[in-house]
Amino acid sequence: CGIIGYCGHRPAVPLVVEGLRRLEYRGYDSAGVSFVAGGELSVIRAEGKLSSLERKLERQHVFTATSGMGHTRWATHGPPVERNAHPHLDHTGRLAIIHNGIIENYQEIKAELAQKGVEFRSDTDSEVLVNLISDCLEDVGGDVTRAISKALSLVEGAYAIVVMSADHPGTLWATRAASPLVMGVGTGENFLGSDIPAFLPYTRDVVFLEDGELVKITATTWEVLKTDTLAPVDKTVSRINWDVQAAEKGGFKHFMLKEIFEQPKVIRDCLLGRVDQQSGQVRLPELDGLPVPERLHIVACGTSYHAGLWGLYLLEKLAGIPVQVEIASEFRYRDPILPKNGVVLAISQSGETMDTMAGVKLAKSRGLPVIGLCNVVGSSISRESDYVVYSQAGPEISVASTKAMCSQLCALLLLTLYWGRRSGRLDTAQCTAILRGLQDMPRVLEDALPSLRAEAQRLARHYAEATSFLYLGRGPSYPLALEGALKLKEISYIHAEGYASGEMKHGPIALIDPRFPTFAMALDDEFFPKVKSNLVEVQARAGEIIALTNEGLDLAVEHPWFVPKAQAPLSAFVVLPALQLFAYEMADYLGKDVDQPRNLAKSVTVE
Ligand code: G6P
Repeated sequence: CGIIGYCGHRPAVPLVVEGLRRLEYRGYDSAGVSFVAGGELSVIRAEGKLSSLERKLERQHVFTATSGMGHTRWATHGPPVERNAHPHLDHTGRLAIIHNGIIENYQEIKAELAQKGVEFRSDTDSEVLVNLISDCLEDVGGDVTRAISKALSLVEGAYAIVVMSADHPGTLWATRAASPLVMGVGTGENFLGSDIPAFLPYTRDVVFLEDGELVKITATTWEVLKTDTLAPVDKTVSRINWDVQAAEKGGFKHFMLKEIFEQPKVIRDCLLGRVDQQSGQVRLPELDGLPVPERLHIVACGTSYHAGLWGLYLLEKLAGIPVQVEIASEFRYRDPILPKNGVVLAISQSGETMDTMAGVKLAKSRGLPVIGLCNVVGSSISRESDYVVYSQAGPEISVASTKAMCSQLCALLLLTLYWGRRSGRLDTAQCTAILRGLQDMPRVLEDALPSLRAEAQRLARHYAEATSFLYLGRGPSYPLALEGALKLKEISYIHAEGYASGEMKHGPIALIDPRFPTFAMALDDEFFPKVKSNLVEVQARAGEIIALTNEGLDLAVEHPWFVPKAQAPLSAFVVLPALQLFAYEMADYLGKDVDQPRNLAKSVTVE
């Protein structure tokens, strides 16, 4: 979601709205601003596009304020309606907040505040947070900085917040934990933003805030403190020379690259609020009302279909649920046999794909419950489904899907553990071991991504003349082979086929020659010996091999590409970005339009 805050000398409201417009590329479904005028704190919000907000603002004639803040919300919880839009006021109407992220323990806090007589107007965790700050304000003698610090010491979760008080019209406070927030330093004016483009026309002097830091700005001053101890922090002002387009992409050359690099955060966000540390249980309350499926039919298209296919391996092995995975456009016309004890799981990033939607309708017409695994809140498939699990990846802009698949894998793994525990198939120890590995994965990936990219770049250059690739994998790496081939086709236009490595000898092996490279997944898992012998067959035909593999394995190929070792189902989270980066570097090197590949659409709403 987009955040902008301003303290300065210009009319704040139009500046804030214009800043929000520069963040529009991120996608949003409601927007709002707040400012202090005549000693009163005003909040104006609207569902839909910024033009709806502007129409409301025109009627207000309140452009005298020189400080204010604004937010565009891309719903991840709760429908995109005005009541849930930001800013949120506390119950006294003297304090306002904008908030990105999720407060995990908000229900406990809400219950305590409700006992004290606080009434809530929205379903959001953000409104709980502003009321908690307001509650703390009384204990610290009205000092907003200390109240924020105290409130956040009681809160678990991820957030970037900006706070405004009717009693201090020219001041804004902001702090972050695992959600982006930057400050812009101007002359006689200072800015806050979730992203640099929010204030780029006014200043290029930027202070990057870290987790656990709190900043207080006025028109002419700014100070950064530790959120918990309020000790001052020395910060350096960096001058950035990105143009607006580079800034939108967070300094990356393409949205696709930015989104690949966002995957550590995507895993963290998908896990938010869903892991009970103490019991090692997965919380998916949205599915508590549904018995553990006796049969599962996964229906999806494109990259989401590959995610589903990966889910099959986990759901069968770990949760003991019989699974069928179906290409939606086939499923809908096949007159499939759907036993009454079955459940359909429709996977769709956009939630708008027509074939997947048709599959959902077919399942419903046969009386089967449907779970939607979607990224876009309030999308058609999420509305049509009986149960919805959101993958919480945030808006994906690049046409070729990357981070959305990562979030789908993460959600499928959570589903597996959730059902596996409920059916008694998995015990606490198995579940906690996997969850620990998953929680550690963002850190592993953060460390690995730069070197994965460097290797992808080197290999892409080496093979830039290839006209065909064969991708091979076994077990849960097979769907990843399909995805690796799809990514390469989609953005570099190089022909690629994904195959189950054991199936290669039944056809594709005829293609192998020194000019037809193979891209294999040969990880340190139970499938390694078999994959290795398939690769020997490739080598016997003089085929060259790139193999994603782990250190210490006995494998002799032209290009071993070592990735960090992860226990079985988790290795996908490392393999996936390597495949994506290889396709990305190839397409970029060949000068293709990475973010807008020819003939493709982000969301396909036709047959
Ligand atoms: C299109 C996109 C793909 C996506 C597929 C399914 O083909 O180009 O990237 O995987 O649709 O989309 P969905 O939104 O249903 O996941």
